Amino acid sequence: MSHIFNTYARWDIELESGEGTKVKDIHGKEYLDFTSGIGVCNLGHCHPAIVKPVQEQLTKLWHTSNLFQSSLQEKVAKQLTEHSSGDAVFFANSGAEANEAAIKLARKYTGRSKIITFHQSFHGRTMGTIAATGQEKVKYGFGPMLESFVHIPFNDIEALKNEVNDQTAAIMLEVVQGEGGVLPAQEEYLKQIEDICEQNNILLIIDEVQTGIGRTGKPFAYQHYNLSPDIITSAKGLGNGIPVGAMIGKEKLTSAFTPGTHGTTFGGGPLAMTAANAVLKLIFNEKFLLEVIEKGNYLADKLNSCTFKGVKDIRHKGLMLGIEFSEDVTEKLATLREKGLLVLNAGPNVIRMLPPLTVTFEEMDEAVSILQKNL
Ligand SMILES: Cc1ncc(COP(=O)(O)O)c(C=O)c1O
Repeated sequence: MSHIFNTYARWDIELESGEGTKVKDIHGKEYLDFTSGIGVCNLGHCHPAIVKPVQEQLTKLWHTSNLFQSSLQEKVAKQLTEHSSGDAVFFANSGAEANEAAIKLARKYTGRSKIITFHQSFHGRTMGTIAATGQEKVKYGFGPMLESFVHIPFNDIEALKNEVNDQTAAIMLEVVQGEGGVLPAQEEYLKQIEDICEQNNILLIIDEVQTGIGRTGKPFAYQHYNLSPDIITSAKGLGNGIPVGAMIGKEKLTSAFTPGTHGTTFGGGPLAMTAANAVLKLIFNEKFLLEVIEKGNYLADKLNSCTFKGVKDIRHKGLMLGIEFSEDVTEKLATLREKGLLVLNAGPNVIRMLPPLTVTFEEMDEAVSILQKNL
């Protein structure tokens, strides 16, 4: 038997090496990786501008603890706050942990407990974040859930107005629901949510774990909509594969987290911070981000000009793309893998593509040609 808990329906491929958008399996077969490890390797595999500083850091210092000063953390936090509405950062190790920090901060700061989230949302796998997630399948068998989370339909402002009350601490959402099916929020709806938060002293938490770090062509996806969230959470692309998460909050919230209130052994360690620092230097750059938008539009236009059988909708924001079919896509994914293209699903019926932001136009052409021939 395998000695690993069977929590993933693993594909029958073992990858051994990667460079840019290309990965190779242990038999030498090459694939175009349009998954980036579920939206993590936003700069592609083994980008030299990250490999070098991380290699150097490996020979200097691996771990201290958060009892010491860290100019590396300050550098990353400076970049994150300069490119968001937040002023201070708590570093964690994953998206779920960043969201845990956000939930705790919202409760502590407001003194209230109710957090409103949305159907099809996904916020992680810890007890707090499965309670936050608006999908029954992640909760099944793990009850009772942490109280005070309420889930309402996405893009439905009346449902939100009916749920808000004086016990509401925060509204938490993804501006493009990733795991839920690459489902963008409507612009007007987002503005209305922000107004409701302002009028009722409710915190707006945007989960940017999948959509952030340039994925949609902005540092964070909420910036397409001119919002100013109180809390932003990040992970995935932040370390390009070195585990790291971040919870970014506005200055007014800093008094709620004081020494001893929250913590982590590994969060913000020197290796993760070195990687994140290198990642942000490349991605938080206007030219780079404009190219992401250009590439996303190019790929979406090409997909729209294809004739896929049973296609219902094609959605995208930057290089986060979803092709919705009228049937389950599991077999389609397997066929594409066989033909050398790795893509993801998002729910049963959506093929999701999260290529590295460094993907080339030729690689996008190649991917579309594989899709066109096999779907
Ligand atoms: C929007 C969102 N939030 C949170 C998470 C959880 O992140 P992690 O798996 O790093 O805990 C994910 C992971 O897919 C995500 O997409």
